[in-house]
Amino acid sequence: MQIKKYTAANKEAWNEVMPKHQKASKDYLDKLFSQKGFIIQSDADLLNLFSEISVKNKNVIHLCCNNGIELLSIKNMGAARCVGIDISEIAIEEAKERAEKFSIECEFICSDVFDIPHDYYNSFDIVHITSGCLGWIPDTNLFFSICRKLLVKGGVFLIHEIHPFSEMLPFDSNPIENKAQIIEPYFRSEPIVENSSLDYIGKTQYEAKTQYWFVHTISTLINSLSGNGFLIKRFIESTSDLSAGHGEIEKLNAGIPLGMIIFAEKL
Ligand SMILES: C[S@@+](CC[C@H](N)C(=O)[O-])C[C@H]1O[C@@H](n2cnc3c(N)ncnc32)[C@H](O)[C@@H]1O
Repeated sequence: MQIKKYTAANKEAWNEVMPKHQKASKDYLDKLFSQKGFIIQSDADLLNLFSEISVKNKNVIHLCCNNGIELLSIKNMGAARCVGIDISEIAIEEAKERAEKFSIECEFICSDVFDIPHDYYNSFDIVHITSGCLGWIPDTNLFFSICRKLLVKGGVFLIHEIHPFSEMLPFDSNPIENKAQIIEPYFRSEPIVENSSLDYIGKTQYEAKTQYWFVHTISTLINSLSGNGFLIKRFIESTSDLSAGHGEIEKLNAGIPLGMIIFAEKL
């Protein structure tokens, strides 16, 4: 598989949308982080896990961290070394700017997750990925092998992600009336090729640069984790929309899985 073909295109698409996200949210986010110790995470299951694995004094790396707001919050929870990696220079610039402005000590590095410098290997107690990272990853097996290398023995891989089941359902922007109707396949051998707006924050519509989105089934994720020497300690499914595009389904309150947490340990 030509991983670079996909990640290079996705980088362009993210650099294109970041100024739109910033226009809609930068000042608001600055205001939030001007409150000392601000924490953006609100998901109860995730917060419980953070306290169970005790983020305090842990070294944490957040992959596909975008503008770093989740990592800044993890630092505010008391983590030790905090490193954020993202492929978009514009996202990383914003993350660095906010960290400096509010004196929150985090390192932000612009890199493809497939090219993380080896100096970072064996350095972290927690590798974290969150909503909308896995979809940009062409090869979960290779990606999880890198996540493993970043961790110390016994380290934790904490995934807070969009539930693959939800990939079969219509987005809010789809005019279809029955939002709970399955309209897409679960199993796909090819990525979804998109040119639609990535501005889920400012909600502007534009013809976007081509993006490649990968739907990974639950079995692919579990097999990639176990194949890379991870022990799955907890798998939590929820009805919370993490995609920013399934709010209508969430409101139906119909017991449809939209979010998930996987807590795994490096053996
Ligand atoms: C949906 S955002 C993640 C959002 C984050 N959870 C948040 O709520 O801010 C996806 C991020 O993944 C980054 N990304 C996509 N492919 C990547 C890659 N190959 N390496 C590093 N970052 C990547 C994008 O630049 C983007 O910032």
